[in-house]
Amino acid sequence: MTAKQSEQKGGGLPIVLAIETSCDETAVAIARGTEQILASEVASQIELHKPYGGVVPEVASRNHNLTLPPLIEAALKSADLNFDDIDAVAATAGPGLASSLLIGNTTGKALALALKRPFYSINHLEGHLLSPFIDSDSGIRSCVALIVSGGHTMLVHVRGIGDYELLGQTRDDAAGEAFDKVGKMLGLPYPGGPEIDRLAEHGNSQAFDFPRSMLGSGDFAFSFSGLKTSVRYLLPKLSEPLEQHLTDICASFQKAVTDVLVKKALKAAAHSGEHLICVSGGVSCNRGLRDAFQNACSDEGYELQLAQGSLCTDNAAMIAYAACAKLANGESPSVLDEDIDPNLSLAS
Ligand code: KG4
Ligand code: ZN
Repeated sequence: MTAKQSEQKGGGLPIVLAIETSCDETAVAIARGTEQILASEVASQIELHKPYGGVVPEVASRNHNLTLPPLIEAALKSADLNFDDIDAVAATAGPGLASSLLIGNTTGKALALALKRPFYSINHLEGHLLSPFIDSDSGIRSCVALIVSGGHTMLVHVRGIGDYELLGQTRDDAAGEAFDKVGKMLGLPYPGGPEIDRLAEHGNSQAFDFPRSMLGSGDFAFSFSGLKTSVRYLLPKLSEPLEQHLTDICASFQKAVTDVLVKKALKAAAHSGEHLICVSGGVSCNRGLRDAFQNACSDEGYELQLAQGSLCTDNAAMIAYAACAKLANGESPSVLDEDIDPNLSLAS
């Protein structure tokens, strides 16, 4: 055993290898308890799906199958560990694409069985939800959590690990889905979210007055399909070529999404009596959203924890962290015949 390994093992914290394959990212990470991420490998399939303008499930699962074994080896190498050093294995069980989930979840179970180690099935949304706490000194705390990704937009009252109350969620498109669909309408490459973010930086966010749906609804639900339709109706009415308005449309659209997310998250924090707001998921990479949350929270006296840049989009570090939090909480391992669930929910 190397000095690094003995230091890692000597800490008494479990070493967990986690696999995430819920959509189109193949990811493997290794964590030492909730204290340290020792390795986090992500193999993106974006280039493979780009020609289709979205994720093709069959292409995704086939590539998870090809990429996963070398990625597990790469994570072990990067952490300077062997299979023998792994104390537990975790994998995402849902929500996500069934054929993608099956590859990572079955590989995780097979690995746990071969190594004679416990296996933890992890909810992908719980991974996102807890990701802002990775590397934070204070550990997991009660908060209002906003998860904004390609598949979900939800506000959750977090009272502790596993104690989650769903305050509200989108009634139609997720925020990331709206970014991607609007990106497609604007002729931008897939995924549209990062492209709109990049173009919005050079645009005027007041140029177009897009709707802020459900801002005054009095609950914590969201709706982004009307906003998407407004962009669609605008395009044929433009008097100049789209290129001349592209940055302004991106900035105005991004501001409309951001305004609703920030205002509703702050309202949810006030309603729940929480001082801390956590934001996670792919859309939390968005620079306009991060700035708007920082400004609003400092103006209104809330504490803010944003997921770190590399942990916003899908990754396995958040799955390893969630598994370590469950281990630390004394939770029992999952049974190996428990199935994946493409519609797994976080809380009711
Ligand atoms: O969390 P994630 O990787 O996968 C899901 O669980 O859905 O989120 C992916 C979503 C995509 O819709 C992508 O366009 C969006 O996150 N996204 C962004 C940015 N980076 C990724 N949306 C807006 N701005 C960004 N910078
Ligand atoms: Zn995700």
